[in-house]
Amino acid sequence: MTDQPEGLPARAAALDLLQAALSRRAGLDDALMRPPFSALPPRERGHARALVMAALRRLGPIDRLLDGKLQKPPPEAVRNILRLGAAELFWMQAPDFAVVSTSVDLAASRKETRPFKGLVNAVLRALARDGAPTLEPQNLCPDWLYARWAAAWGPDSASRIAALIAEEPSADLSFKAPPPPELAAALEAQALPGGSWRTGRGGLVTEWPGFEDGSWWVQDAAAAIPARLLAVGPGETAVDLCAAPGGKTLQLAAAGAATVAVDRSAPRLTRVAENLARTRLSAETVVADAAAWTDPRTFDAVLLDAPCTATGTFRRHPDVLWASRPGDVAPLARSQAKLLESAAGRVKPGGRLVYCVCSLEPEEGEQQVEGFLKRQPGFRLAPIAPGEGGAPTESITADGCLRLLPFHIEGGGDGFFAARFVKA
Ligand SMILES: C[S@@+](CC[C@H](N)C(=O)[O-])C[C@H]1O[C@@H](n2cnc3c(N)ncnc32)[C@H](O)[C@@H]1O
Repeated sequence: MTDQPEGLPARAAALDLLQAALSRRAGLDDALMRPPFSALPPRERGHARALVMAALRRLGPIDRLLDGKLQKPPPEAVRNILRLGAAELFWMQAPDFAVVSTSVDLAASRKETRPFKGLVNAVLRALARDGAPTLEPQNLCPDWLYARWAAAWGPDSASRIAALIAEEPSADLSFKAPPPPELAAALEAQALPGGSWRTGRGGLVTEWPGFEDGSWWVQDAAAAIPARLLAVGPGETAVDLCAAPGGKTLQLAAAGAATVAVDRSAPRLTRVAENLARTRLSAETVVADAAAWTDPRTFDAVLLDAPCTATGTFRRHPDVLWASRPGDVAPLARSQAKLLESAAGRVKPGGRLVYCVCSLEPEEGEQQVEGFLKRQPGFRLAPIAPGEGGAPTESITADGCLRLLPFHIEGGGDGFFAARFVKA
């Protein structure tokens, strides 16, 4: 990736990002928006982010190595300097001496880590001597999450899911209309089943062909499936109840439905508006809590992409693995049930409701469907057919829901659950 490690500012920003990523859910997203990271020049921002992602994708194996070298646990900031140093030594092709010396400089630059300069030097030199570790799927994942996946989907699937943690994902694109061959070629994009395209391109997305004129938006191939299951068309109405940043709203609007996008976060809804403007699509945007939104309208198609643990998004957001806690699942599942009740009231007779989450946890998927059907006898499941909307055959459950595991899409995809209901 780079021959020379960046200087101190990029490494200090990387340390701040890593600390934020590990301290709380969405901590990384917040830290990416503020200084010191946001104040770096673009190239150094790229390096700081890549360094943190390299560490988060292999945090389990790195910590095992460090535990073997440390006699007692050092302060967290020192451990984080070592984690970044190890990631750069093994997976960023930087010269060992440079990684060791810049990591020591970083430790020396802060009061709390300064007394541990010698430790940083000794541990990183020892790691460099030993060489890169082998990456076992089980070690790439926190134990509690791996145990959950093994219990829910079987040990073999858990291992295949976890093996993708260390892989850098390619970008997937959704197009407003099927792209002309010359645009697909310029984007180095290959068609995937269902209508998404996958590109191996790197660099700034805003500089790729077709970005400026709004021909496409970035959307994981798995994340693009749920909105297709509503199969909306011109003359229909649709509401996307947790809409930001808006990938699914854009799909509904591009398919011709008169679309309303609701999100409780005004700043996040601004991103939906920006995406609509860039793609020249239209939708009404509403800042509201979808569980308490008093709008009396009902819709032909209702999409609830509910807030969830997001454990299925670890390929692009490896921080979710390390910032999530076992206790996060139950409160989110309760809020999903509440949102589903509210969503049900917004479906016209004969209309469709798609519930989805980017989670690998059954409490947020299968168990929500079970509870909803008991509470809402006026709804029934409308089974999803194998292949429908790009749904891989092996993702379709016995009752016709989508349980997409990250390895079901060739090359990897987000983990997703979706269920489609119709109202009698
Ligand atoms: C999983 S993301 C949605 C992703 C989006 N559907 C897309 O495809 O781009 C969840 C969103 O739900 C919003 N949200 C969370 N709780 C909400 C609520 N009670 N009402 C409305 N929006 C909510 C969050 O602000 C966040 O933007």
